[in-house]
Amino acid sequence: MENNEPATPRRKLDHLRICLEKEVERGFSGFSDVRLVHEALPEVNLDAIDTRTLFLRHRFASPLFIAAMTGGHPGTREVNARLARAAARFGIGMGVGSQRAALEYPEMEDTFSVVRDEAPDAFIVANLGIVQLRDHGIEWAERAVRMIDADAIAIHLNFLQEAIQPEGDHDATGCMAVLHALCDEFKYPVIIKETGSGISEETARRCFGAGVAAIDTGGWGGTSWAAIEGARAEESPHNNHTRLVSLGDEFTDWGIPTVVSLCEAARTGGPVIATGGLRSGVDIAKGIALGAALCGMALPLLRPAMVGEQELFHRIETVNDELRIAMFLTGSRTVADLKCAKTYLTGRTREMLCRYSEE
Ligand SMILES: Cc1cc2nc3c(=O)[nH]c(=O)nc-3n(C[C@H](O)[C@H](O)[C@H](O)COP(=O)(O)O)c2cc1C
Repeated sequence: MENNEPATPRRKLDHLRICLEKEVERGFSGFSDVRLVHEALPEVNLDAIDTRTLFLRHRFASPLFIAAMTGGHPGTREVNARLARAAARFGIGMGVGSQRAALEYPEMEDTFSVVRDEAPDAFIVANLGIVQLRDHGIEWAERAVRMIDADAIAIHLNFLQEAIQPEGDHDATGCMAVLHALCDEFKYPVIIKETGSGISEETARRCFGAGVAAIDTGGWGGTSWAAIEGARAEESPHNNHTRLVSLGDEFTDWGIPTVVSLCEAARTGGPVIATGGLRSGVDIAKGIALGAALCGMALPLLRPAMVGEQELFHRIETVNDELRIAMFLTGSRTVADLKCAKTYLTGRTREMLCRYSEE
């Protein structure tokens, strides 16, 4: 029966299943190269740590952000509902997955709009691929925002995935111009977001120059779309099967590690969300100390969300506890203090970032 479903919604369900069943994390985010400087005399009260923060003039109870993941197939609705209930309960922000499926098939809209129903006051970010924006114009961005009464829209960049997906779009021309036009005309903040290959300082500068409100690194070292698409190709009867599997393998190693992308994008001075391979509250503390305004997590929240609401809530509580302890041990009572915390940078991350100091 599933095979009669349209391709875009069916792909959404494939992605969730593959993320649950297969090993889809690849690479090296760089967080293990970062060490926060321990403050042996913190002079703060652990029970008075304040994790509240501001981003795009919204107040969040914690810098943890639920990164864009799902919606677009009836089987994804409950996962989005659980994620939204978590956003409401913990006072954190949340992105929905690409809304293309619902823009093509309006009967899928409630798999996204459930998020606003469950989290009436949360900061919710709509999501659309830059290729869909280019091909369908600003009207699609407007429909995406309206569908969920969003506070901002993330335009995602995923050319690695497009390049190795059998049905992918191989033409990346004309995207910068539409991004410019969107930022000029749209009344909502535009976030530009990678999905696993990172954003360099130069590209971040071009995007801020076009008028984006924030960059989401979507760096290498977490969930890998090359791995997910490789796994899909392995299962598919496509006649290009072997070539697609080997492309997936080769390009799991492609991208800018999240920490490098974060440090590069933060040099622009614009707000940055660090996403890609963050796996604990300590990683969030490191991300904030390196210049992130918010820190996104996708896979670590998806897996418990697919099991049940209590599992998801428990995971978020653990991440928030880890963040609070890392703040305590760096002598940071507030997120503003954490932004000033010192870090040691080692290994490959330090080497990659040195290319700038040598120039
Ligand atoms: C199942 C799944 C679906 C995703 N779909 C989208 C999407 O539609 N749009 C988007 O911008 N990012 C999407 N992402 C990427 C995440 O937002 C995030 O950038 C990436 O997974 C890295 O974070 P992680 O290592 O914590 O998983 C998806 C991630 C997962 C796991």
